[in-house]
Amino acid sequence: MTGIFQLLLLVIATLASEPSCPACSKYDYEEKVLERMIRMEFAFEKVLDENKAVSKSVQLDLTRIKEENEHLHATVDALKEQQEHAERRLISLMEEVERNQSSTLENVVTESNNTLKHISAAFNVIKDKVIVPEVYFHARSPQSTTLTTGEVIVYKTVETNQGNGYNATTGKFTAPTRGLYLFFMHTCTPYNKYSFLQIVKEGSLLIASVHRDSNNYVCSSSQVFVQLNDRESVWVQCSSGGSTTQLYDSSNYWSSFGGAIIHN
Ligand SMILES: *[C@@H]1O[C@H](CO)[C@@H](O)[C@H](O)[C@H]1NC(C)=O
Ligand SMILES: *[C@@H]1O[C@H](CO)[C@@H](O)[C@H](O)[C@H]1NC(C)=O
Ligand SMILES: *[C@@H]1O[C@H](CO)[C@@H](O)[C@H](O)[C@H]1NC(C)=O
Repeated sequence: MTGIFQLLLLVIATLASEPSCPACSKYDYEEKVLERMIRMEFAFEKVLDENKAVSKSVQLDLTRIKEENEHLHATVDALKEQQEHAERRLISLMEEVERNQSSTLENVVTESNNTLKHISAAFNVIKDKVIVPEVYFHARSPQSTTLTTGEVIVYKTVETNQGNGYNATTGKFTAPTRGLYLFFMHTCTPYNKYSFLQIVKEGSLLIASVHRDSNNYVCSSSQVFVQLNDRESVWVQCSSGGSTTQLYDSSNYWSSFGGAIIHN
């Protein structure tokens, strides 16, 4: 028994010492292959782990790039939106400016027009006050030389009638505009005949005169100022007629009636 145990120990000792002696083990080759395979597996695993890490990092990078890309897109979209908004605002502002300008122009024109109208009206008022209208007339040759009381003397031959105030049918002058007027009557009678004539305004006496030719070939004149309103009339009438009264009229000496506006 002790002998067998000692043999076994010897075998174990021999086996145990075999690896340190390459030439001594018949499993040496397999062991080496195995060992290499294990090393390769380790290396492979390491590479795999490294790959995994790299892949993970690449994945992370990709995700980050994707996110950045999305962010960039969002930023570009926002910028585009802002630009479109700015463009729309600019266009509407420009339209408003145009509208404002044209309405300002319209206001200026309307105001100028109104100012012009006011100035024009004021000018017309001043003009009417300052400018004396041309009104004057002179008519001669009584239609009838005989005289009856109250008769209106109609001087039938119109020498001048600026403003058409004198009417040769009625013998009356009607003021075409209000103002201060001067009237005269020039009277001639045949030898030894009388005339009682008056200048009246709407029938009211302005001036009264008598004329008698006691010496042959004499005439006389009467003048009067009077303020007339528009359309008021002035004429010559006989205050007393009869067989001793008569007017004279020839190409050498006229009986006439005339007047003019002095101031309006
Ligand atoms: C246009 O006119 C209105 C009213 O007068 C004014 O409030 C506005 O500021 C004007 N717009 C511009 C662009 O001038
Ligand atoms: C200006 O006034 C005149 C005369 O009153 C008128 O004929 C014209 O149409 C007016 N113009 C404007 C732009 O208002
Ligand atoms: C003169 O007066 C008469 C009678 O009132 C009238 O018929 C005529 O139209 C007048 N003439 C003028 C030029 O106004």
